[in-house]
Amino acid sequence: MTPGIFERLTLPNGSILPNRIAKAAMEEDMAERGQVPGNALFELYRRWAAGGAGLLISGNVMIDRHAVVAPGAVVLERDTPLLPFERWAEAGKQNGARFWLQLNHPGRAIQVDMGGRVLAPSAIPLNMGKRSKMFAQPKAMAETEIGEVVSRFAEAAKRAQQAGFDGIELHAAHGYLFSQFLSPLANQRTDSWGGPLENRARLLLDVVRAVRAAVKPAFGLGVKLNSADFQRGGFDAADAQQVVRWLNALAVDLVEVSGGTYESPAMQGRTADQRTLAREAYFLEFARDIAAVASMPVMTTGGIRRREVADSVLAAGVSLVGVATALALVPDLPTCWRNGESPVIQQRGPNWKDKLMASAATLAQVRRQLDRIGQGRDPVTDSSPQWALLSDRVRRWRLIFRYRSWLRQ
Ligand SMILES: Cc1cc2nc3c(=O)[nH]c(=O)nc-3n(C[C@H](O)[C@H](O)[C@H](O)COP(=O)(O)O)c2cc1C
Repeated sequence: MTPGIFERLTLPNGSILPNRIAKAAMEEDMAERGQVPGNALFELYRRWAAGGAGLLISGNVMIDRHAVVAPGAVVLERDTPLLPFERWAEAGKQNGARFWLQLNHPGRAIQVDMGGRVLAPSAIPLNMGKRSKMFAQPKAMAETEIGEVVSRFAEAAKRAQQAGFDGIELHAAHGYLFSQFLSPLANQRTDSWGGPLENRARLLLDVVRAVRAAVKPAFGLGVKLNSADFQRGGFDAADAQQVVRWLNALAVDLVEVSGGTYESPAMQGRTADQRTLAREAYFLEFARDIAAVASMPVMTTGGIRRREVADSVLAAGVSLVGVATALALVPDLPTCWRNGESPVIQQRGPNWKDKLMASAATLAQVRRQLDRIGQGRDPVTDSSPQWALLSDRVRRWRLIFRYRSWLRQ
């Protein structure tokens, strides 16, 4: 019988999620000076924990201060002060929710204005059409740099455990470093890190092993993986299933299925290779196929806003329902569903010809809600995309200035 979304889920590490709704990662861009969490992030996660989701996954936290995806991103390194992270963990674990940090290295997906160190499997920049120049030219990683990345992930996971988080999720989706290594388009190496899938998956598998060796068996370890990159010649559904077969052997507690990259933003419901996605629960079919080969629970994220759709995810044999945007608009959505309420989740998105700008504005609109919740206010559903994009740009310049001056110190 299909379990209900409010039934508990026991993960392979023995940890119990109080229900099957997970707050998926959303980059908050809300760190304080020194790239550490502060009051706004504590308040945001307190609100989500009170809102009833069983698992909260943080926005992506950087493992290297020189490779940072956004200027307000949180960074966790060997010498980062741990107290702010302890307070963050405490805030997100109220009400019985489990709280995991998502760890990420953006690889080549760093905009030029950020500065820092832009590394990738191969020296191939992002192809963003007429906006390609916004992104930095990456340097192909040397063997020692790959080794350093492996130890940084393990160190960050160990410190997340020390701070009181329940687990970490490796961000191996959306065209960041792991996903660049997995992609035959971005990874054109001819050594043992490139070529056949086994080599392209080596970085992810090595990091999973290194993290497992650095943390206790009861600490959660998840992997967010693309169902496909939705680019011709890119990482595809058969590749994703094979990677999950390899992960089966490595004490992974959860695989989250997403899709797309900067070049083909399927996670926002749009693809570059013209393949159509489901209108809601975009990756459900892929997740069902992955669940058929996975020994760990599978979660799918993307386009889930209605209770009926959440139920259909579980009915398809997928164990966890991942929700991002809808929880920025209605942070207590799980409680609403439990009480039989069905709030209509709508954001007036831009309908612009320039798809890249439209996508940036949509993200800015969502981030604006996160900001409001962090200030103890309620989200607004009628936010203007133009205004959100403009204020996001201004905020970004201010934060870049702060980030770069911190880096120089
Ligand atoms: C503002 C914003 C920031 C995001 N940041 C992250 C992130 O840091 N890590 C990640 O894995 N996904 C990130 N995502 C993608 C979401 O986790 C999710 O995969 C995607 O939004 C589709 O789910 P949804 O339709 O429920 O929003 C972000 C999405 C939004 C809207």
